Amino acid sequence: MKEKRFFEQQAVYQIYPRSFKDSNGDGIGDLNGIISKLDYLKDLGIGIIWLSPIYPSPNFDYGYDISDYKAINPEFGTMEDFERLLKEAKERNIRIVMDLVVNHTSIEHRWFQASLDSSSPYHDYYIWRKGKNENKLPPNNWTSNFLGSAWTYVKEADSWYLHLFTPQQPDLNWQNPKVLEEVESILRFWLDKGVYGFRCDVINEIYKSSLEDGKDSFPHMMVGKEYYLNQEGGFQILRKLHEDVFSHYDSMTVGETGFITYEDQKKYTNSALDMVFSFDHVNPRFYKLFPTFQIKYKPEFMKKTIRGWQENCTWNTVFFENHDQGRSIAKFGDTGQYYKESAKMLSTLICSLRGTPFIYQGEEIGMEDYPRMDWSVNKDIVPVMIKKMILSFHMPKSQAEKMAFIYDRDNARMPFQWDDSLSAGFSSSSKTWLPVNENYLRINAKLNEEDPTSILQFYKEGLKVRKEHPSLQTGSISFLESKKDVMAYIREEEGEKILALINLSKKERKTGIGLKGTVILSNYPDDNGEKSFTSLRPFESVLIKL
Ligand code: GLC
Ligand code: CA
Repeated sequence: MKEKRFFEQQAVYQIYPRSFKDSNGDGIGDLNGIISKLDYLKDLGIGIIWLSPIYPSPNFDYGYDISDYKAINPEFGTMEDFERLLKEAKERNIRIVMDLVVNHTSIEHRWFQASLDSSSPYHDYYIWRKGKNENKLPPNNWTSNFLGSAWTYVKEADSWYLHLFTPQQPDLNWQNPKVLEEVESILRFWLDKGVYGFRCDVINEIYKSSLEDGKDSFPHMMVGKEYYLNQEGGFQILRKLHEDVFSHYDSMTVGETGFITYEDQKKYTNSALDMVFSFDHVNPRFYKLFPTFQIKYKPEFMKKTIRGWQENCTWNTVFFENHDQGRSIAKFGDTGQYYKESAKMLSTLICSLRGTPFIYQGEEIGMEDYPRMDWSVNKDIVPVMIKKMILSFHMPKSQAEKMAFIYDRDNARMPFQWDDSLSAGFSSSSKTWLPVNENYLRINAKLNEEDPTSILQFYKEGLKVRKEHPSLQTGSISFLESKKDVMAYIREEEGEKILALINLSKKERKTGIGLKGTVILSNYPDDNGEKSFTSLRPFESVLIKL
């Protein structure tokens, strides 16, 4: 039998360090804060922590603009603190995965500063070009993922540089072998310290195969993508990183890959990355830019999308949240009457689908979006860019303001709600970098710990059940034809067979499945013993051993 890999057996917990736990009262989460909560994480039952970036950064994109890849952001602590985190985590059999952001650096990185001089060897680390129309217009019509032109002119260099994100995030030139060398050295630096692997930021955009004008259409989003998304050159680079570096370590890599097909996924996981995030199921077509175009979420959409990926993907990532997404209960569940049931339904999916489960901080205690997002609260750059773009279409300011906040990623970045004390126990200060959601008296970890029927207890149970049943980890998955809004699949390994029945909807639903077995996990307390489920109550979800 093939030996199981750690990431096939364990679940990942994503920490957004700024918002997890502040240990020194400056209102910003930090490494010592994380260390103080390792027992909480151990108790939850996860085996891997993915840390959003902890490197020095001027924070235009809160850490996703890195100015030094081999150091720790002083806001978060020191290298000694980090080494202690590694050690303390290891003692609890928890491994640490870092965020690797190498599509771009920060403008404050010394490579970029040096690159302003066209005679410097660093010039070619980035993508500098002369503009059109005697250097007055950008070199091409590409737009940034964060809207607006993807080029910025620098007077000192009398030239333009490419940035697929904010102007403070200049893209690296992956056609330059030196860049690959530098990144390999960064990877070895952290792996040699004992880091388990990397989550690779927008890794399917790193390679630009041409700088021609891209196909353009209103509202001018991601123009140029046919020359930078999922390019053959990108696959080659990732295979090379794997061969040169990752294959020499017991490691894990996961790529952030928006806009990929099943075929692309196969290429990314063939001798390159261990797994990728696809966003089809969370990147809802109902979140189109203009609210008027929004399509309402339908459970059938989730059912179809998940099934497609599960059936076509080598090894999945199973997740509903991260630091860029809105909280999941409001999107896919119910924040009212079925708040707990729907959160537990999502948890059942996380613990029973095939792939590595990813839980985002706060998801396990049912945290919700911030109720009153406005400019006095906002820290994220995305709404700023959206407002600018919408105004450029000569649309009314009120409309621009409204649309901007639909995409505010701060919702997922509000301080973690630990208890009912000052600042929800996140910080000893009343001034936190983002405000604490007022609902912290109702939603916090302490209340969850005390309540045997809480969402947190259910996550613990779900992760435990997953650990105890090999079929839920590496077993095959096969979907059964089930009635509307109900998902039904069987996980199977070496004779162990587990049936999952999931009602994705707020209404009672027929399952169309007659199989009988022993309940091993359910989000309704009266489900136990030998049973079959011809219908399911709102959001009811069960795992039964056949
Ligand atoms: C990824 C990150 C996001 C960041 C962007 C640019 O999508 O998840 O937070 O803004 O890349 O690095
Ligand atoms: Ca702090």
